[in-house]
Amino acid sequence: MQLADSRWKYLALAPLAIAAAPIALAEVPPALPPGPETNRVIERCTACHGLDYLTKQPAGRGAQWWSRTIDDMVDTHGADIPDEDRKAIADYLTRQFG
Ligand code: HEC
Repeated sequence: MQLADSRWKYLALAPLAIAAAPIALAEVPPALPPGPETNRVIERCTACHGLDYLTKQPAGRGAQWWSRTIDDMVDTHGADIPDEDRKAIADYLTRQFG
């Protein structure tokens, strides 16, 4: 019964692997697919709050809302976001969330 024994070993480990998966995914929410702009967003937009401020916005905010919100982060809250990043991030978030 060697073979059957080793199969049971893997079955016993399977739930552990499944339980560990969401922890690895939690770092970048699935709403933000990995790419150059994702890194920019993480770099520029997580100093003061979590990414959930971005990812939990209702869909359909629109390009203007995103670019106004990013300007607000800079003008009101003192975020350090160069102009070219502001536009790239606004475009990306509009593409993602509408
Ligand atoms: C210097 C700190 C700081 C940085 C950096 C920052 N934010 Fe914020 N953000 C805040 C504060 C404070 C609030 C809560 C007050 C508010 O809503 O204005 C907030 C709120 C928000 C909200 C919710 C606003 C709403 O009306 O629901 C969004 C969306 C947001 N930030 C997006 C961003 C994005 C995108 C970036 C990067 C481009 C960013 N933030 C970077 C300080 C910051």
